[in-house]
Amino acid sequence: MQVIHSVAELRARLGAEKSIAFVPTMGNLHAGHVALVEQARGHGACVVVSIFVNPLQFGPNEDFDQYPRTLEADCQKLQGLADVVFAPSVAEMYPEQQTLFIELPPIADELCGAHRPGHFRGMATVVLKLLNLVQPQTALFGKKDYQQLAIIRQMVAQFNLPVVIVGGETVRAEDGLALSSRNQYLTETERTEAPQLHLTLQTVAGAILNGGVDFAVLEKDAEAALAKRGWRVEYVSIRSQQGLHKPQADEKRLVVLAAARLGATRLIDNLEVCL
Ligand code: PAF
Repeated sequence: MQVIHSVAELRARLGAEKSIAFVPTMGNLHAGHVALVEQARGHGACVVVSIFVNPLQFGPNEDFDQYPRTLEADCQKLQGLADVVFAPSVAEMYPEQQTLFIELPPIADELCGAHRPGHFRGMATVVLKLLNLVQPQTALFGKKDYQQLAIIRQMVAQFNLPVVIVGGETVRAEDGLALSSRNQYLTETERTEAPQLHLTLQTVAGAILNGGVDFAVLEKDAEAALAKRGWRVEYVSIRSQQGLHKPQADEKRLVVLAAARLGATRLIDNLEVCL
């Protein structure tokens, strides 16, 4: 496995590769990332993982400085799984100030976008740069960041990018908590409470499967149940899987999404529901 820090070296290394599967990450890898990298092997002869904490997708009061940077441990986890790790510095990714951005569709201002202004613009911009640098045939993203994945799919389709986007299933701890680098911010008490987010999504999904059709009530009840336990809820929302719009009455493929804070930690999760 080769660890590469510069764009020039990356281009030289990947220039002749014909079948690249790419997993972009911000590092601090957990079993969810590892599963995605393992899945990547089935999509390409050369597996590339990027590790880059992208300043453009963090708001001024978010955790960019605090975000765990663990390159050495990450590389150990990737040994035998990835062929190339691309770990550029901020100066390497943004040698000049980034003044051009992807302009996003309205869905990027809803759900997480409503609470993290500019996040998806910064995310989409770096993903486009990374796809241009690595030029993979396939790129894999976790379904835990469901809205991110939906926006990337739209970007790739609408800009005719020559890459197939694959969504990897969310990996969970035994108690149901979706794995996330941010879980390590949780105190012991918060960690005990954290699986409640997934349980709440399961309750909503169960209600839909049992014929619940008043989605606004289901969303409000779920938000109230979490708030009662001390969560600061941003949203619980039932959307269509395709495009994340508010579902039509006959929509069969739904997803329940939620974001809420436990203490200082913001957690997101989602659950697909097929009727
Ligand atoms: O999901 C992430 O880790 C990041 O948003 C991504 C896609 C690597 C872009 O920085």
